[in-house]
Amino acid sequence: MPHMLKNVLAGVLPAEEASQVYSAFDQVGDIVIIKIPDSLASKKQVIAEAILANVKTAKAVFAQASAVKGDYRIRELEFVAGENRTVTEYREHGCRFKVDVARAYFSPRLSTERQRIAGLVQDNETVVNMFAGVGTYSIIIAKAVKTCKVYSVDSNPVANYLCIENARLNKVADRVVPVCADATEAIKTQLAGVADRVIMPLPERAREFVGPAVLALKERGGVVHYFAHVKADGKQKAREEAGARDAAEAFAPYSCEIMETTVVREVGPRVYQIVADVKITK
Ligand SMILES: C[S@@+](CC[C@H](N)C(=O)[O-])C[C@H]1O[C@@H](n2cnc3c(N)ncnc32)[C@H](O)[C@@H]1O
Repeated sequence: MPHMLKNVLAGVLPAEEASQVYSAFDQVGDIVIIKIPDSLASKKQVIAEAILANVKTAKAVFAQASAVKGDYRIRELEFVAGENRTVTEYREHGCRFKVDVARAYFSPRLSTERQRIAGLVQDNETVVNMFAGVGTYSIIIAKAVKTCKVYSVDSNPVANYLCIENARLNKVADRVVPVCADATEAIKTQLAGVADRVIMPLPERAREFVGPAVLALKERGGVVHYFAHVKADGKQKAREEAGARDAAEAFAPYSCEIMETTVVREVGPRVYQIVADVKITK
């Protein structure tokens, strides 16, 4: 998609300005979200119109108006052109997701990781997804492994509502159990000791939730997918050194083995999102 956008923008902007826009282009269903540098603010409308005219599947264009922030990890968006609505449908790995780009977290940039984790889930597993959002990991897992059950926790009521809708849309509502609550509370009150596998996709606050994640695992232990942000000089060091070290420190109080560390994506200059697959023996 960035390549296509580069061509689209070539008609309306000088090459250097165009490159600043296309590096931060996301399309979620029929909604396009762009990041416009301050220096190009006056060309926002022209850029959005060019996208609508050239990207056939785009019906609306919004501009990022803040960083991702707050407990719900959402960003403010400014409507620029097309249809002024924030709800759309996104398709990934044979699943359909109803998404509200303004009211619940969603990123199309995590699809490879969602597929990787789904590929690790075994028959009859119980999974606790501590930060489920609109149910992306939960539903892809439940679709892939017909005998598993996934508790999908999120404190954002809009995300939880969309997760319920998405479980229905994908015919996995019998095995995706939505829980609208703080993850720590939900585990303490109803999910302690139930899980073979725990997913922790809240990298900004990973360390705070390690204790509850381990508490959710069954008595014999299980696997935790620990997402975190680490600083490193390059992707390889993020994986082999910073990521593995961060996970080892986070799980030091437990009997654990860091089985695999994966770099999910670069999230800033020399800052990487990693996920460590941590095997815990209780
Ligand atoms: C980075 S998003 C990940 C969403 C989803 N897993 C995905 O990849 O699309 C983190 C999610 O955690 C939720 N969240 C933040 N703090 C939470 C908490 N204490 N307990 C439960 N959910 C929380 C947010 O509402 C948000 O939907």
